[in-house]
Amino acid sequence: MTEVLQVDPTDPKRESIARAAECLRGGGLVAFPTETVYGLGAHALDRRALQRVFAAKERPAHDPLIVHVAVIDDIEPLVIDIPRIVPELAARFWPGPLTMVLRRSERVPDEVTAGLDTVAIRVPSHPIAQALLRSAQLAIAAPSANRFSRPSPTRAAHVLADLADRIDMILDGGPTTVGLESTVVDLTQQPPMVLRPGAIDADALRAVIPEVAFRSGPAAAGTVGLPAPGMLPKHYAPATPLMLFEGTRASTIDAIGQTVRLRREHGQSVAILAFRDDVEQLRGLGAQLLDLGNENDPLTVASRLYAALREGDELGVDVILVRNITTDRPLSMAIQDRLRRAATQPTPSDQA
Ligand code: TXA
Ligand code: MG
Repeated sequence: MTEVLQVDPTDPKRESIARAAECLRGGGLVAFPTETVYGLGAHALDRRALQRVFAAKERPAHDPLIVHVAVIDDIEPLVIDIPRIVPELAARFWPGPLTMVLRRSERVPDEVTAGLDTVAIRVPSHPIAQALLRSAQLAIAAPSANRFSRPSPTRAAHVLADLADRIDMILDGGPTTVGLESTVVDLTQQPPMVLRPGAIDADALRAVIPEVAFRSGPAAAGTVGLPAPGMLPKHYAPATPLMLFEGTRASTIDAIGQTVRLRREHGQSVAILAFRDDVEQLRGLGAQLLDLGNENDPLTVASRLYAALREGDELGVDVILVRNITTDRPLSMAIQDRLRRAATQPTPSDQA
């Protein structure tokens, strides 16, 4: 049985936090809210607890975990070399959604690092995460609390849907605020490299590390008006096939309209994740619409995205369509990355 404890983020009650901390200390698994997404927490130095995390998530063993600590001083036992940029980044972004990859110490189990000689660490800002870390007096390894390849959970209900009866406890602190995962930056290479775009935007990071590099690769753009080429690892994805349309607003809305008509002619049901401004044009196509918020407000889009992907699944349609966000405002790069990863590889017949 997975126990769900309601916790008020503005006033995390001591008893619930203490019980969750006790559970973690004893090798249990506790899902808890962070400012980004819900994490599945385990004692970061307890190998058996870590193995349970991989089993519960069905996560492949080669994918390393992020370690969460309460304050920057807590990273010391976990790393062997602290570059000068670390306190600078921490002063600007911690507590908060920046994950730093550093050289690991001997203490950090291979289960956390997947055998790498580095460890990923962050100090979360969410009051429940902070209260839990302080009460447990532990470093807590916590991947996102979803089953592997499913969208990350932004609500306790998402955690339950994926992990009920596989974990001991969920601290339900309501919806998370950001809705997308932390930015992961590798500080063991020169120049430092962003491995995963996320809640801390590129420009904010450049203000502290002007030379920061971005790993190219999956985030390549697709052809105008067509789904992005499917060379991407499927991740963060709904179970229903998701078709992503890249290009200008006009060309992608047009392509979505054509695709809906074609699919419906073939007897298929369709849902569209729609930006607020597109709703008027997309209504009347015979597709179900799910609101992603205003395209020019990526913060809102980010906070809705994963819930909308899950809602799309619940509709039971044959296919979900979405166009990629086109603004360059903060968080749009991370949203583009997640949509590309969630998208299904298109088959030639999809390219209507
Ligand atoms: O916002 C977040 O980061 C959330 C909350 C719960 O903190 N956590 C999260 O964890 O998204 P997870 O496990 O879903 O994603 C961790 C990412 C993976 O892409 C993993 O490959 C990368 O961090 N990572 C972890 N350790 C690493 C390391 N030593 N070197 C490179 N990448 C690492
Ligand atoms: Mg994850």
